[in-house]
Amino acid sequence: MELEELRSTWDALGEQDPLWAILTDPDKTGGRWDVSEFMQTGREQADGYVVRLGSLGRRVSGRMLDFGCGVGRLTQGFAPSFAECTGVDIAASMIRRADRLNRFGPQVRYVHNDRPDLAVFPDGHFDLVFSTIVLQHMPEALSTAYIREFLRVCANGGTVVFQLPSRLLIHELPSDGFSAAIEADVPTTLAAGARVELTVSIRNTSTAAWPSGPGWYLALGNHWLDADGSVVHLDDGRASLGHDVEARGSTEITLNVTAPATPGTYVLELDMVQELVAWFGDRGSPAFRARVEVEPAGSKDEPTSTPDSPPAPVIEMFAVPRETILELVRSCGGTILAVEADDLASDFESFTYYVAVDTRP
Ligand SMILES: C[S@@+](CC[C@H](N)C(=O)[O-])C[C@H]1O[C@@H](n2cnc3c(N)ncnc32)[C@H](O)[C@@H]1O
Repeated sequence: MELEELRSTWDALGEQDPLWAILTDPDKTGGRWDVSEFMQTGREQADGYVVRLGSLGRRVSGRMLDFGCGVGRLTQGFAPSFAECTGVDIAASMIRRADRLNRFGPQVRYVHNDRPDLAVFPDGHFDLVFSTIVLQHMPEALSTAYIREFLRVCANGGTVVFQLPSRLLIHELPSDGFSAAIEADVPTTLAAGARVELTVSIRNTSTAAWPSGPGWYLALGNHWLDADGSVVHLDDGRASLGHDVEARGSTEITLNVTAPATPGTYVLELDMVQELVAWFGDRGSPAFRARVEVEPAGSKDEPTSTPDSPPAPVIEMFAVPRETILELVRSCGGTILAVEADDLASDFESFTYYVAVDTRP
């Protein structure tokens, strides 16, 4: 992911549904966040960080920088404690909204910055450099470059606080858990590129329960094979297991599949997968197969895939090992004060790092 892709993704999210893009509560999509309730979360979290900084003996005054400020949820929360707060963000749409939500006048300012650095700020300028739920959305090369910049723009005697996941949490099913019986009614002919919704019955024929919670990543997916059984399209539809399925239990999953764009004879294969671990088929469980004739688009009454709205921007997640971060901080002259586990990145082990910048000449 390049910086420009990051910028355009967040700019689009900031236009469409900024509060949900920041705090992705499934009940709050489509502009359903109450703004004051949303901003209150920032006040409470900022108060928590202020207390923690105090307990670490760090100064909580002067100038603070909120990197990846979004609409200023936390910048506003920190404002009562600092003489000057600066929020910086890559998305112009977020900055516009932050300006509108600013309750502190010139004491708080927001800066649009779409560079891979913080050259817009001088060395040693801020007493607190802060960032949460931001670095996790960019590749390691970018997040580590920004962390170097955090230490550069932090004043002597100041503190850098940032959050970053360290690794994805994965729980692997036991070897006898990869066994499923899959059934579905599949149309025998489809128009090229047609998208169909399949209701798929799945029975857990293993001796282990299939959990649906964080770290398990069980899903139903489909492949397209040619008439000889060679894979022509490995990853097509995907639908997560919405709830736990007991050993010998059954469930139904709705899966959207898209017929290949080139007419011909195909085999639609449905299989369970544990993401990042294995397809059940590769662990000996027979996948469901149905032969499908794919006809030129328009030769049947079926709708072809004509998406009526562009796909929603995807918020990607990245992790950087804790040891890499500790080494990076040390190499920039920072002193680790605390590394605290947090729950800010679901499915990941995540830490908030408290770094003192005390030794700069
Ligand atoms: C999940 S939101 C978090 C916003 C804010 N930290 C909060 O907790 O309310 C992530 C924010 O980081 C911003 N962002 C992502 N990449 C960035 C970058 N390279 N530089 C500055 N901001 C960035 C996005 O535009 C978005 O506003």
